[in-house]
Amino acid sequence: MKPQHVLGIDIGGTGIKGALVDLAVGDFVGERFRIETPATSTPDNVADVVAQIVDHFAGDLADGPVGITFPAVVQHGTTLSAANVDPSWIDAPAERILSDHLGRPVALVNDADAAGLAEAKYGAAKNADGLVIITTLGTGIGSAIVYNGVLIPNSELGHLEIDGHDAEKRAAASIKAKEGLSYDEYVPRLQRYYETVEFLFNPDLLVVGGGVSKKAHKFLPKLKLRTPIVAAELQNRAGIVGAAWIAANG
Ligand code: BGC
Repeated sequence: MKPQHVLGIDIGGTGIKGALVDLAVGDFVGERFRIETPATSTPDNVADVVAQIVDHFAGDLADGPVGITFPAVVQHGTTLSAANVDPSWIDAPAERILSDHLGRPVALVNDADAAGLAEAKYGAAKNADGLVIITTLGTGIGSAIVYNGVLIPNSELGHLEIDGHDAEKRAAASIKAKEGLSYDEYVPRLQRYYETVEFLFNPDLLVVGGGVSKKAHKFLPKLKLRTPIVAAELQNRAGIVGAAWIAANG
């Protein structure tokens, strides 16, 4: 029997959050627990905080891996990039470092892959056939490609070069905030981004996640695409839920 309650942890730039996840329904069991990300966010420092989060839930944990998300490419447990995080993560054996600190197995996964998979299993793309591309608009742009319910990991579509720019530097939600853009000013950037993704990948469904998706009604209806585009449903629970799913299902 696969465990039903699995710990998912989301490592972000400002906070590290954990919650027990009921995989039967794809939602939290009890409260989320959050600790600030250390100012110097090296793998060892972050792993110390992750260990405190695991300790918090220790009494309720089954054996087996903890699922952890990280905002970088994660290939075979090694973090290969560090677009918005401390550069010391590049080429770090991060899954092993975390697992050593925790004294238990870890499944480390890209943050957007975790969030996208959660949407495919429990949220806006549940039961969707064909090719679904889930993007998260936050500090950067994360992406998950899911085909017939199977994740194709580490797609990094936030770094498509569009009109000579790294796409996330024009269209991430953090850029909207930084440049003080209204939705009317932000929409053309999203239009350019999503029409490029549509042209290159021809998905059956686009899902938009990240904090800004709470305001999806302010921008999604204004995008002119032939692909259906919908808001994510799990909001800020998606990463933790997806990490727990991956920990339990591999
Ligand atoms: C990173 C991705 C990450 C995304 C969202 C991008 O800058 O390259 O790995 O998924 O930000 O955090």
